[in-house]
Amino acid sequence: MVTGATGYIGSHVCVELLGAGNRIVGIDNFDNSSPLVVDRIRRLAGHFDFVELDLADRAGLERVFDTRKIDAVVHLAGLKAVAESTTDPLHYFDVNVGTSISLLQAMKRHAVTGLIFSSSCTVYGNPRSELMPLTERAPIAPINPYGHTKAIIEQMLSAQVEADPRWRTISLRYFNPIGAHASGIIGESPLGTPNTLMPHLMDVALGRTDHLVVHGGDYDTVDGTCVRDYIHVVDVARAHVAAVAKVMAPHQPMVDDPTRFMTVNLGTGVGCSVLQLLAAVEDSVGSRLPYRIGPRRPGDAAAVWADPSLARHLLGWHARHDLVDMCRDQWNWARRHPCGFDRQSMAAVSS
Ligand code: UD1
Repeated sequence: MVTGATGYIGSHVCVELLGAGNRIVGIDNFDNSSPLVVDRIRRLAGHFDFVELDLADRAGLERVFDTRKIDAVVHLAGLKAVAESTTDPLHYFDVNVGTSISLLQAMKRHAVTGLIFSSSCTVYGNPRSELMPLTERAPIAPINPYGHTKAIIEQMLSAQVEADPRWRTISLRYFNPIGAHASGIIGESPLGTPNTLMPHLMDVALGRTDHLVVHGGDYDTVDGTCVRDYIHVVDVARAHVAAVAKVMAPHQPMVDDPTRFMTVNLGTGVGCSVLQLLAAVEDSVGSRLPYRIGPRRPGDAAAVWADPSLARHLLGWHARHDLVDMCRDQWNWARRHPCGFDRQSMAAVSS
């Protein structure tokens, strides 16, 4: 079962799981995604069992477990806008933590004990520079309600695994996923004002915005702009395939962690500044993208990148796509779908 199946990450996870020969059921309530994605997944990967469902609908969730043989769950459903989480924290705790509890209870009732959780490097908050590259042992110190919801769900999973030795759980902490499927028919389709850097860069590339505002140019980094660990969304999706195989293979020990609850960073291990990403996007787009340096964004860490060695060790996974691939695939998606999955973008696809 994949929750949040039609979201940006979820759609890529479904395509990769199906491509690797898994039979899956996808669940989504289309709160932050389009119903069109279901058909796109089918176009890329063939048969795809999908149920439109809000995870808060306990009876509906029960029916999905009752009518299918679920071996493991990949739980990606959740809200993810940091700014919104600070203005309406109760909604974030209710949706992210509340629906995770419902899901875990349903799993427990149906004796499903394998879980992959969609977590984020946001659980590390604003980590000190000496901690780079970040390992999974870095302190958990979220700085906003969204980050707290991810940390709380991880704590819940850890407790459940400790309480029941049959549970096997991997929490994947994504760094900064960007890019799109190479076909250009699925990708990120943010509703409203985007929060993260890449959709802003696409707005400039598509001529929708005159210039990028770079949030701060006076950090102690290679060029004064913030450094992050951008990772291709298809690499992120493939890590889920490896993680599912891991939790479904009980004969394979979950190394390093006797509690069978693992947290795993998903990054490339390579830092990239805002201006370096801008230059890579310019190369893909084939034109200059104007920018201006603005003030720092409150709460931003100067430089955050992952030590991804545990993912290699535990899952046999490492990121295969580089920045050129990420920017090429992102631009391929964006120019075919300048408005995401809405009607105008359908016209772009069919023409
Ligand atoms: C974001 C999320 C975080 C999530 C992470 C990984 C926010 C506030 N944080 O953080 O919760 O875990 O992605 O997906 O949404 N920037 C600009 N101009 C822009 C937009 C961004 O200069 O218009 C800069 C930012 O200041 C930052 C860098 O680009 O230095 C990356 O920003 P962003 O894409 O928001 O990622 P994170 O800050 O890592």
